[in-house]
Amino acid sequence: MDDLRDKYIRLVAEAGDESALEDLRVQAVGKKGEISLKMRELGKMSPEERQVMGPKLNALKDEINSALSAKKEALEDVALDERLRAEWLDVTMPARDRRVGTIHPVSQVTEEVTAIFADMGFAVAEGPQVESDWHNFDALNIPGHHPARAEMDTFYMHRAEGDNRPPHVLRTHTSPVQIRSMEQQGAPIRIICPGRVYRADYDQTHTPMFHQVEGLALDKDISMANLKWVLEEFFAAFFEVDGIKTRFRASHFPFTEPSAEVDIQCSWEDGQLKIGEGDGWLEVLGSGMVHPKVLQAGGIDPYEYQGFAFGMGIDRIAMLKYGIPDLRAFFDSDLRWLRHYGFASLDVPTLHGGLSR
Ligand code: DAH
Repeated sequence: MDDLRDKYIRLVAEAGDESALEDLRVQAVGKKGEISLKMRELGKMSPEERQVMGPKLNALKDEINSALSAKKEALEDVALDERLRAEWLDVTMPARDRRVGTIHPVSQVTEEVTAIFADMGFAVAEGPQVESDWHNFDALNIPGHHPARAEMDTFYMHRAEGDNRPPHVLRTHTSPVQIRSMEQQGAPIRIICPGRVYRADYDQTHTPMFHQVEGLALDKDISMANLKWVLEEFFAAFFEVDGIKTRFRASHFPFTEPSAEVDIQCSWEDGQLKIGEGDGWLEVLGSGMVHPKVLQAGGIDPYEYQGFAFGMGIDRIAMLKYGIPDLRAFFDSDLRWLRHYGFASLDVPTLHGGLSR
């Protein structure tokens, strides 16, 4: 028995890999292994002999089994060390800047705007681009005869012959999303709605498709002071200028009362526009307190809730922030332009990580 023990302990120690170890296991303690066969002989022994040999054989079997599993573990450790050495990777090495396309300024600015308003508790809402005449106009207090309809250079959808209902339109602004959001979630509400809008217009600062972002905040005690604070927070974060000055000019929109157009401080020197300094002004958005008729159209009781809304051109603030002179180039798909004005695809704008780098 001692010979058997010495032999297997030595063989286990010498085993070079897991398959050699498995062969050994079969050879020693497998069904037809040397030790197993010895155990079978117990049956032929006298009871006295068996009493001595039984426990000894069992102890031997246990000893070989634990030698096998200790060796197995040791071999696995060696294999793991080997792998860790071979698969070593220097994560501190700078990434290769191989650009796979770039992020378009409109997408970048939409992400920036969303990050800033999300931080102030605004959720993102969306609506259809082919919009009903009612959502785009009537519900926003722009009835059929209203001059704003003509001013908006609306694209009308085709209507089947004999269909006398008002045709759907390509939405001329993101304001109809105000109505849809009120219908869907009621009040209180705090949302922004970025998206595409359409008007038949084309020159250096107008394209038939462009982008707006709408804002809407409704609650029982929201005032224009809240509007002013929210917008000033936004401009300071977006243009990365603390304490940027704003100017609220009385204006008129059918869907707000009172209404204000908002300008931000800027300077023009040697043909260079700088935001957040000097004593010039630049108009950036329309806003006001939501008109009671608009609340009613959205199914909200104007005696219980009130709030502010605003609408702003995304392309326009992108042009201002990143010094892009011609709006039409935004939609030309010119690779040279995209490489010049585009953003690295891995830099997601966040307030803590930086909006634009
Ligand atoms: N919808 C307006 C436009 O397209 C912008 C606007 C003005 C939106 C005032 C508003 C607002 O929500 O309160 O020109």
